[in-house]
Amino acid sequence: MATTLIKNGTVVTASDEYRGDVLCDGETIAQIGTKIDVKADTVIDASGRYVIPGGIDVHTHMELPFGGTVSSDDFQTGTIAAAHGGTTTIVDFAVQDRGQPARKAWETWMAKAEGKAAIDYGFHMILREFNDSLAREMKDLVQEGVSSFKLFMAYPGVFMMDDAQIFRAMQRSGEVGATICMHAENGGVIDVLVQQALAGGQTAPKYHALTRPARAEAEATHRAIAIAEIANVPVYIVHLSAAGALDMVTEARDRGVPAYAETCPQYLFLDYTNYEEAGFSGAKYVMSPPLREASMQDQLWRGLKGNDLQLVATDHCPFCMKEKQLGAGDFSKIPNGAPGVETRLALLFDGGVRQGRISLQRWVEICSTAPAKIFGLAGKKGTIAPGADADIVVWDPEHKQTLSARTLHMNCDYNPYEGRVVTGGAETVLSRGRVVVDKGTFTGKPGSGRFLRRAPRSI
Ligand code: URP
Ligand code: ZN
Ligand code: ZN
Repeated sequence: MATTLIKNGTVVTASDEYRGDVLCDGETIAQIGTKIDVKADTVIDASGRYVIPGGIDVHTHMELPFGGTVSSDDFQTGTIAAAHGGTTTIVDFAVQDRGQPARKAWETWMAKAEGKAAIDYGFHMILREFNDSLAREMKDLVQEGVSSFKLFMAYPGVFMMDDAQIFRAMQRSGEVGATICMHAENGGVIDVLVQQALAGGQTAPKYHALTRPARAEAEATHRAIAIAEIANVPVYIVHLSAAGALDMVTEARDRGVPAYAETCPQYLFLDYTNYEEAGFSGAKYVMSPPLREASMQDQLWRGLKGNDLQLVATDHCPFCMKEKQLGAGDFSKIPNGAPGVETRLALLFDGGVRQGRISLQRWVEICSTAPAKIFGLAGKKGTIAPGADADIVVWDPEHKQTLSARTLHMNCDYNPYEGRVVTGGAETVLSRGRVVVDKGTFTGKPGSGRFLRRAPRSI
């Protein structure tokens, strides 16, 4: 077993910050100490650097068929990009087609990742419907380590379930120890607004945002939590973007209801005005929920600081501009999604830690530790501790980078943060003890990422 010694760094976890050395033996962390004097096969000098647990992004869509096309990163390009940014685990979404056994969908997504993923990966399962046979399968999938299911209150005719189906799926998740991840937007109301806008000749990208009001997200978030309360199960709201939706989560949590939520960097750093960029450029930001008024961002940061928002994931779902052009004359045909898996840690370090909005420990918590705990990976992932997987990032807090599609590694011909200068970046990245990124160069191997059997719900 090869050994790696990371020396002289500042170890940062969700709870601590101290000067220390970390010894990895094979795939796991063997020892942490103020000074470890052993001869290791590889020695990494981390002087002046933070040594943090690898990032965990629990919301990605590699090679997702969506909006008449397929998202442009596959499990190879997407996980290599993730590694460059300091993320060593992703949890992606398999999609069950109507009438299809969920196991088939899981096998399809396993085949997409097999031989390609350069970092470890798990899967949630998107259910488009609920019936007795899927109820049986939910139990089997939890046993296989697919222990969370995403349901949609939006995209009628594509993904949306009605409240009765949602309620039944939630009850079943309570029985089988699964977590329900909810896309909370009122799809019925949005659909009417979309049809009315198009009938009035309002076809530009900005109408994507104008037909998906923040109230439609707040309403659905309230409803999702209320249905989960009746079903007596926790619920996890994905990609929360709006202050009113956060109010619903906060109100529930204040009453002791187990409601959880993630937000994404795009809702913290971008806003509605991006849709008003010249020409068709606003299409770059077409995602659901849409970007909101900038005035909402302070509340999202407060939510992150105070733990009404538990974590930040990316909803990485890139489409190149050629694909976005599918909606050139009709905003509703623009594929929804944007790239993000590579830039999450740097954006949050620069805009969060360096701006004094969150502490260094909270940064580690929302990017790595909380995702591991909520999604059944704790013990192996999400911290630096003896026995845990040696997924470690040596983070240079002074590294300046200009974010650009030209230099980032995601397979997308634009970047939503193009030209933004951020300070802080991953210098060396280890995935289960192997160096996969060394000073900006990918040194890993596609296919070396492993499927992670996640534990049943722990929240
Ligand atoms: O616009 C988005 N969010 N695309 C990905 C699908 C989803 O709803 O997460
Ligand atoms: Zn969604
Ligand atoms: Zn998503």
